[in-house]
Amino acid sequence: MRTPIIAGNWKLNNTISEAVSLTTALKPLVAGCRDVEIIVAPPFTALASVSSTIAGSNIRLAAQDVYSEDSGAFTGEVSVPMLKDVGCGYVIIGHSERRQYFGETNESVNQKVKAVLGHGLKPIICVGEQLEDRESGQTEAVIESHVTGGIAGLSATDLASSVIAYEPIWAIGTGKTATPEQAQEVHAFIRGLLAAAHSAEVASQIRIQYGGSVKPENASALMAQPDVDGALVGGASLEAESFAQIVKFDQ
Ligand code: PGA
Repeated sequence: MRTPIIAGNWKLNNTISEAVSLTTALKPLVAGCRDVEIIVAPPFTALASVSSTIAGSNIRLAAQDVYSEDSGAFTGEVSVPMLKDVGCGYVIIGHSERRQYFGETNESVNQKVKAVLGHGLKPIICVGEQLEDRESGQTEAVIESHVTGGIAGLSATDLASSVIAYEPIWAIGTGKTATPEQAQEVHAFIRGLLAAAHSAEVASQIRIQYGGSVKPENASALMAQPDVDGALVGGASLEAESFAQIVKFDQ
């Protein structure tokens, strides 16, 4: 009942021509995939070109971040109307790298989430604990603050169209994936938080992606878990072949 959602987060990679080559290579590899939502998140500079390249295909466009105001004196920022204009349907918000290096907080995440939903786009809200949190038994406390902070004040309808990405920081870019059981445990905890915030029915509609060293080799075992509804893929999304294999996790 929840359509799987596989997103490629390209991070700070790919010029326009590289982005177009990657997407051009990806298109035919995933053209037959119907029961999965496929998303790529290029850097801002490549959004327009990738948007043209994927027009008419089953690949959708996401941005990696956004600012919460629509326009004004905010040098260097990009707004939701601008992302909508370029063809984005999704925006990744609160990625751990933004929290760690760029001062993103639960409050700024929540403002961005509201701005994105206010313009009819879908937020992919990232949450996740650091290794120290896990080792000191703080995983649930950290996840709870990220989830409840990120979704504060959302209506049931808005929440239902949001996506949560659980990305344990110790698994990002390290090659150290969470085991399917570790992922499931946190995903089930997140779904419980969503149910407590609204209702079990709303919580049952929300897709929760896993992210952190997802590769073709581990994607199907992760996706087989009952509360894992997708993947947010960094490194392995930079090659068309490996990303396509993850998209086809069930084939
Ligand atoms: P990774 O990144 O797949 O390279 O670990 C995931 C992410 O940060 O979204």
